[in-house]
Amino acid sequence: MTEKKHHVIAIDGPSASGKSTVSKKLAQVMGYLYVDSGALYRGMTWKMLQENVDIHDTEVVIAKMDEIQWDFFIKDGSVWFSIDGTDPGQEIRGEAVRENVAIIATIPEVRAFIGEQLRNMRHFGNIVMEGRDIGSVVFRDSPYKFYIDADPQERARRRCKDIVQLEGQSNVEEVFNSLKRRDEIDSSRKTAPLQIVDGARVLDTTGMTIDEVVERIASALTQDGLSCEA
Ligand code: DC
Repeated sequence: MTEKKHHVIAIDGPSASGKSTVSKKLAQVMGYLYVDSGALYRGMTWKMLQENVDIHDTEVVIAKMDEIQWDFFIKDGSVWFSIDGTDPGQEIRGEAVRENVAIIATIPEVRAFIGEQLRNMRHFGNIVMEGRDIGSVVFRDSPYKFYIDADPQERARRRCKDIVQLEGQSNVEEVFNSLKRRDEIDSSRKTAPLQIVDGARVLDTTGMTIDEVVERIASALTQDGLSCEA
């Protein structure tokens, strides 16, 4: 099988650290596919909310999870998915999903299921995958691990800008508090908490432009022996 030879670049870090934009751009520069692992947690949450599942009732969530049909495909340079035949699109970025996804992501069975889907994506080709546990759990054996962080106030400002674009308005303080809540859940959960693993290269992106961050990672990867497409 050839899929073992496909490279996986793991980019982990907290919400709004800039890792999505950086990962997408890095994937373009490298000629790799981009995978947003958080989108699967969001997709799962979206489906549960659609089905009126009480997300705090773990047993019901797990039972529902077993009934859902996921399909994965390549769309615009990313590995994307549909759930029961529907592409959830931007709905996974809305407030309902945003406020509930961290709860869904604490369920070990959900993590095991999503982890398996993410590992299967290696069949599609070389990938840049962003998330919270990509270097620590999902692709622990990958030698290409990065941990991206930024000052919490800057992260709140960045996320606020995204929400304004999507929903027309936002409030930095509310976003800051919401990010803080989510960081706490993500870092303190028992299964696969957000952490910096051995071998991960840490980048504080506060005050850096996206291009500077991408350049830093791409040049580190070039030194590792990986080549960019461009
Ligand atoms: O990156 P994001 O904000 O779209 O992530 C949404 C949620 O999913 C967030 O609460 C963390 C969780 N998540 C996770 O636990 N593990 C991942 N690999 C990716 C996201």
